[in-house]
Amino acid sequence: IDQPLVDPQGRTIRYLRISVTDRCDLRCRYCMAEQMTFLPRAKLLSLDEIAIIAERFIARGVTKIRLSGGEPLVRRDVGDLVRRLGRHVGAKGSGGGLDELTMTTNATRLDRHADEMVDAGIRRINVSLDSLDAERFRYITRHGDLDQVLRGIAAAKAAGLAVKINMVALAGLNEAEIPAMLEWCVAEGHDLSLIETMPLGAIDEDRTDRFVPLTRVFEDLKGRFALVRDAHRTGGPARYWRVDGSSTKLGLISPLTANFCDGCNRVRLTTEGKLYLCLGHDDQVDLKAALRDGGIAGLDTAIDLGLTRKPARHDFRIASGSAPAVARHMSVTGG
Ligand code: GTP
Ligand code: 5AD
Ligand code: SF4
Repeated sequence: IDQPLVDPQGRTIRYLRISVTDRCDLRCRYCMAEQMTFLPRAKLLSLDEIAIIAERFIARGVTKIRLSGGEPLVRRDVGDLVRRLGRHVGAKGSGGGLDELTMTTNATRLDRHADEMVDAGIRRINVSLDSLDAERFRYITRHGDLDQVLRGIAAAKAAGLAVKINMVALAGLNEAEIPAMLEWCVAEGHDLSLIETMPLGAIDEDRTDRFVPLTRVFEDLKGRFALVRDAHRTGGPARYWRVDGSSTKLGLISPLTANFCDGCNRVRLTTEGKLYLCLGHDDQVDLKAALRDGGIAGLDTAIDLGLTRKPARHDFRIASGSAPAVARHMSVTGG
């Protein structure tokens, strides 16, 4: 491994999240406004440039890459990128290698992509699914067709992919449905991660009205399920419990009620080639310019500069009437 990626807090970066497009075919209310302005296509990194940057991170010790968006499967030819990065999975040696290549998707197009993912070396995916009620699903996503998404999830399972459902807890929308979602995940053999809504980007509603502290949800779930603390770690921010008697793991992602920044191991690459050092801050370095002007050496210099500026933690707060902590939407950095 060339010069490992260590930040001023002593945290080693081993996880790169890549947003391959900020566009999405859905408009989930907690994530996007109905009318969105997306990044201009002319400014995007090519898939080849994404791969070159990702491979540089692998050479510098990154062992986990997640492709995200927006919806990653709406980017044409994303399969080429998956196949190219998939060649690094399990590769060992001085050049580094990936323990895991994975994706976060809304599953609307998953039925067409599941087999190619498995062929490329993906073993596990996370699927955003906030309700199992067709009408409520349509309401939350504004455009989503639940059956289409369930077909995508079924195709993933049939192809042999492990599936984790991501559910953002939303008061008055899906909070009451959380036990039923966990029940369904147990029946289907999926894992479930519950997520606190985070103040990124302007949306058409007040996040305060929707915010659910997962402390409250967890108290409720403990009364309904036998939950056993599980040491399982993925390199992501979730803490896990196992539903006793099943293979299902329940993950809690609680940035607002249980900060996890001390253990941060990740950075984010946007579709325009900007490297964001933290989900909760605006600070970034332009890797596209660095690569185009200075090649691999320029890229390394820019990555190193970025790392020296990685913030210690986010400062998320959900307070009525306040502007989002960060103006950009989750889709720019892929969460
Ligand atoms: P696993 O590999 O399965 O652990 O997934 P993951 O949690 O790393 O990725 P996923 O894309 O499923 O993200 C789930 C949620 O965690 C999303 O809402 C992300 O925005 C959030 N998340 C991931 N990393 C961070 C982080 O560093 N800080 C904060 N605040 N949220 C994060
Ligand atoms: N807060 C929390 N989670 C969010 N996601 C999108 N926007 C937000 C937000 N503002 C979730 C999606 C997806 C994951 C990558 O992030 O549901 O599962
Ligand atoms: Fe890391 Fe920032 Fe996420 Fe905290 S909010 S875990 S510092 S990326």
